[in-house]
Amino acid sequence: MAQETTLVGLDVGTSKVACVVAKVGMDGKADIVGIGQHAAHGGLQKGVVVNIEATAEAIRQAVQEAEMMGDVQVRSVLVGIAGQHISGMDSHGVVRVKGSEVSEEDVARVIEAAKAVNLPADRRIVHVLEQEYVIDGQGGVREPVGMSGVRLEAQVYLITAAASAVENLMRCCKRCGLYVEDVVLQQLASAEAVLSDEEREMGVAVVDIGEGTTDIIVIARGGVRHVSSLPVGGGHLTNDLMAALRTSRRAAEAIKRRYGAARAALVDDAEVEVPGVGGRSPRTISRQQMVQFLEMRVDE
Ligand SMILES: Nc1ncnc2c1ncn2[C@@H]1O[C@H](COP(=O)(O)OP(=O)(O)OP(=O)(O)O)[C@@H](O)[C@H]1O
Ligand SMILES: [Mg+2]
Repeated sequence: MAQETTLVGLDVGTSKVACVVAKVGMDGKADIVGIGQHAAHGGLQKGVVVNIEATAEAIRQAVQEAEMMGDVQVRSVLVGIAGQHISGMDSHGVVRVKGSEVSEEDVARVIEAAKAVNLPADRRIVHVLEQEYVIDGQGGVREPVGMSGVRLEAQVYLITAAASAVENLMRCCKRCGLYVEDVVLQQLASAEAVLSDEEREMGVAVVDIGEGTTDIIVIARGGVRHVSSLPVGGGHLTNDLMAALRTSRRAAEAIKRRYGAARAALVDDAEVEVPGVGGRSPRTISRQQMVQFLEMRVDE
């Protein structure tokens, strides 16, 4: 008998690790039963693991919190990957259709053919994303199975990652006793979570501004057209403010969140109190002046 299954997603970010546990019923509907989050404490830089033990500890804590909330035991996870090492490339495969109509096996073969690219040993394919199929020169086919034809072509977008980044992420999970079912591009998971079918058809970019990276995905005509990741995020704004205001990182983060903006022209001219460090007394700065420091980085 088919059963309810449990799916666990893990987002290992530069500022925090987040875990979500969902029960998926026989109707395919997912019900979120547990969530957990824990500060990453320097385990990652710009979206990639730089300290296995610190990252593993954050994963352990986030998973434990989600387990407690959902009253479940987590054994395997789907883990998201991002960072500047991710790259996307167009690829193409061609096969001869075996029977008179395209079968699932033909589709599997044409996808294999599209995957057969020369990759350096330090790169790993993470996803093969179908864009369209072409049958006997006729393009724009989304569902080729069952169609008549002799020559089947697939246009795909290959997502590759640095093998070491994938392995280190998996190692962190393994250290917590978790089996990694799959590694999923974070941009893809974000797009899945927030986009409607209409948006995917019309063309849309999803931009996820994190602590250490800004991850971008472009989807049009139903398929992924581009992914990229910039090694700049909200953490850089905090660091800039910390240096410019000569205050602690914690104070700079709080000021950014409370009074920050991308444009100085958009804010009033209130006074912002900046805590002093090493026993120095606090100072004040105009909000407009403070936002100008952020504006420089935003422009970059
Ligand atoms: N209200 C706010 N105003 C401005 N920035 C904010 C606010 N709340 C959070 N941030 C910033 O968002 C960033 C954290 O975002 P997020 O949790 O998505 O990052 P992450 O997933 O841990 O990192 P990454 O995806 O880069 O590896 C931090 O830089 C934080 O300062
Ligand atoms: Mg993130």
